[in-house]
Amino acid sequence: MLDIQNLEKRFGDVVALNGVSATIEPGERVGIIGLSGAGKSTLLRSINCLETPTSGDIAFEGSSVLDLKGQALNAWRARCAMIFQQFQLVPRLDVITNVLAGGLHRSGFVSSMLKHFSADERAQAVIELDRLGIADTAFKRASQLSGGQQQRVAIARAMLQSPDILLADEPVASLDPVNSESVMSTLAQINEERGITVIINLHSIALVRSYCRRVIGLRAGRVVFDGQADDLDEDTLAYIYGRTETAPSAAQQHTVEAIAS
Ligand SMILES: Nc1ncnc2c1ncn2[C@@H]1O[C@H](COP(=O)(O)OP(=O)(O)OP(=O)(O)O)[C@@H](O)[C@H]1O
Ligand SMILES: [Mg+2]
Repeated sequence: MLDIQNLEKRFGDVVALNGVSATIEPGERVGIIGLSGAGKSTLLRSINCLETPTSGDIAFEGSSVLDLKGQALNAWRARCAMIFQQFQLVPRLDVITNVLAGGLHRSGFVSSMLKHFSADERAQAVIELDRLGIADTAFKRASQLSGGQQQRVAIARAMLQSPDILLADEPVASLDPVNSESVMSTLAQINEERGITVIINLHSIALVRSYCRRVIGLRAGRVVFDGQADDLDEDTLAYIYGRTETAPSAAQQHTVEAIAS
């Protein structure tokens, strides 16, 4: 279980997260929505320890992850792999090398860069690419792939870390609608078939409704909705997205229920 308690993050005078609490059970698939600047990326980056919260706690399986250092920190980052809007591949390297670079924490940086991967590691990368339907791209340069294929390579790289949690920060924001759907269904498949917890920052309400069961709505660094995607009505969305200052009772109710449970 991932337990986020009263998380606050300030950047100077800017309060990016203002007392965020949420408990995420293993195997959940959660969408995080909110206006630009609401704190979605800061929340994911805090879970992955790319940001250090100002106060509050994040615990995984009962232990805080905030004070981890060295190997323990690397191990935690591997357990909660992250993918990004811009894929973050090395364009001139082939796909398989990009995927294997996800094992940096195991193989060491130098051997990865020199492409000294064992036959077993290479086989694992190809198996992973095959599971994601893109084994035929293994020896192409990453730059030759479509955006949807590149995001799948990034997902394959993340999967090679054998994560418990996949954090996806706007994974389809650079993709056309067809590729967006196919990457979202890949994330759903990873969640359902492998039981990996998936937490996805999204701007598309349609995709949230189609692919996430639970939704957390952030507004100005606070959780203003935490409930089922099916319960996201227009009033709730208007409040999350700042079109109204009146919190709908439904939103309050779901937040209260989620915190109480
Ligand atoms: N490194 C930083 N230094 C200063 N301020 C930051 C930093 N990172 C984020 N912020 C600020 O924190 C707030 C939350 O930013 P965050 O990136 O988490 O929002 P977001 O919900 O991911 O937005 P978007 O939808 O545009 O990606 C914003 O006001 C942002 O300007
Ligand atoms: Mg963001």
